[in-house]
Amino acid sequence: MGPFCSASLSSCFPASFPLLKLTPLFPPLRLTRLSATNQIRVSVLAQAREWIEDAQSIAVLTGAGISAESGIPTFRGPGGLWKTFRPEDLASPEAFARDPKLVWEWYLWRRERIAAAEPNPGHRALAKLEAGGRQFTLITQNVDGLHRAAGSRNIIELHGNLWRVRCVDCDFEQEYRLAPSAPLSPRCSCGGLLRPAVVWFGEPLPVAAIDRAIHAAQHCVVFLVCGTSALVYPAAALPQRALAAGARVIEVNLEETPFSQFAHLSLRGKCGELLPQIIHVPPCPEPRK
Ligand code: APR
Repeated sequence: MGPFCSASLSSCFPASFPLLKLTPLFPPLRLTRLSATNQIRVSVLAQAREWIEDAQSIAVLTGAGISAESGIPTFRGPGGLWKTFRPEDLASPEAFARDPKLVWEWYLWRRERIAAAEPNPGHRALAKLEAGGRQFTLITQNVDGLHRAAGSRNIIELHGNLWRVRCVDCDFEQEYRLAPSAPLSPRCSCGGLLRPAVVWFGEPLPVAAIDRAIHAAQHCVVFLVCGTSALVYPAAALPQRALAAGARVIEVNLEETPFSQFAHLSLRGKCGELLPQIIHVPPCPEPRK
């Protein structure tokens, strides 16, 4: 606490003298208290920026929160998908077996919203960080494809991609941008039903994807956790693995998560506002003549 905060004032005035009365007399007081918080905030942002700038290898885990500012609803936040829809009715193999048309209708609704969305400054800051030339891996739980649209390249889509489909019979997978007139339950050339190529509850993650993600988490100097509630496993275990491997872990989230207490730095705010502040990629030096 700075010298001018409530502690020193109370020593000047008798206890019975309520602080409230002081306010009109000392307007700078409130400012001082605010700036102390801001000073902490500024130093935490500076610390995060410094760690990121100095790191030769960085891995990032993102969740629905990073796409929220692009107008894509999250799952568990205010207005989240699971507040309105029941995952067991729409995002499970049983639901698809029961009513593929209903599941496709929902995914088509999500596709329309994502098709209308643009990457935001949070997505772009991560793409810029990757372009800085250090070892970089972007692990996302998002199926919206906005990281790739922002220019990121080394992406691990842990939960699949909503623009791809997979045959329930022959497992053939392909990109599939359904025309509005296309049949609601598209079929594979083998005759099998095509389903969204995303990971549903109760399904295993693609082995290659989770192995690559674990490797990246265990071999990075800085691990960034952005916009995820850290509730869904195995993705939610990655920050712990990075910690255990000695990485500096920085969390960016609007709210506290079960992981916040373990992070070296937990920044409270929007990804689209904070990531551009903590990601500074120095311009590449001019090649010598
Ligand atoms: N900036 C930063 N954080 C944000 C923002 C924002 N603009 N908006 C929301 N958040 C935070 C919320 O506070 C919350 O902690 O993002 C998190 C979103 O959490 P969820 O909705 O649970 O999404 P996510 O963690 O990605 O869910 C994991 O669960 O339903 C499954 O497969 C689905 O991939 C998803 C997985």
